[in-house]
Amino acid sequence: MEHIKKVLLEAAHEAGALMLERFQGRFEIEHKEGINNLVTEVDTACEAIIINKIKHHFPDHSILSEEDGATANPSTFQWIIDPIDGTVNFAHGVPLCCISIAVKKDAAIVLGAIYNPMMDEFFFAEAGKGAFLNGEPISVSSKTDFNTAFLVTGFPYHYDEQTDPLRVFSKLIKRGLPIRRLGSAALDLCWVACGRFDAFWEYYLNPWDLAAGLLLVREAGGMVTNFKGERHIIFEPEMLASNGLIHADLLNELNS
Ligand code: IPD
Ligand code: CA
Ligand code: CA
Repeated sequence: MEHIKKVLLEAAHEAGALMLERFQGRFEIEHKEGINNLVTEVDTACEAIIINKIKHHFPDHSILSEEDGATANPSTFQWIIDPIDGTVNFAHGVPLCCISIAVKKDAAIVLGAIYNPMMDEFFFAEAGKGAFLNGEPISVSSKTDFNTAFLVTGFPYHYDEQTDPLRVFSKLIKRGLPIRRLGSAALDLCWVACGRFDAFWEYYLNPWDLAAGLLLVREAGGMVTNFKGERHIIFEPEMLASNGLIHADLLNELNS
């Protein structure tokens, strides 16, 4: 595991250095399925740095990466990569974006690294060994009163009336609860892990958005479930992550 950890940290640092170098510069921007779902040439360049490094050190490991897709080889280890989470922020020069890389062993995420080089914040977690920000241990908040909870959520690129994300959002802001929308699910999860936010929820996430952050929150003492309150497995789109203490309150809001 030490070798995997070393490569993970190096890959995140190297991709993050490129991201910082190109931040607020000029680069090609294309859109994917929707006109506002963007991918920049920096996303693909960061992804190449990470994937080349993994393939060099662990040619038999499998990889699932947002822009490059999934490798076909079965392996105990799978690397799950979001080369830039918060691409729309990055494309507009907003420093709320990051590199997110997780390592899954069998069904469990065992390592996670999320790096925001613009804020010089490197989040790291190892299963059973805790969560860290720039090397210092972090933990979720101790907020128990839901009425004063500080929350964050995200919205998908496509609006779906069936699971209208505005319903809960609107209910909570009518109650006067402060809610933020940063535009990077990976950072949302890190900020729950280090206690800045008390909870985060989102309806449509992909495994690369949440894999590393899920481990960060759990290792920081928090709780991560689907909207039924069941332990979250990374291939589910809906996610609720919290300090554990206000989890039931938010679950109740999501289901009522
Ligand atoms: C997006 C961000 C955003 C979330 C979207 C994700 P991307 O990832 O995490 O916060 O609301 O659901 O798709 O496109 O910036 O990698
Ligand atoms: Ca993402
Ligand atoms: Ca992305």
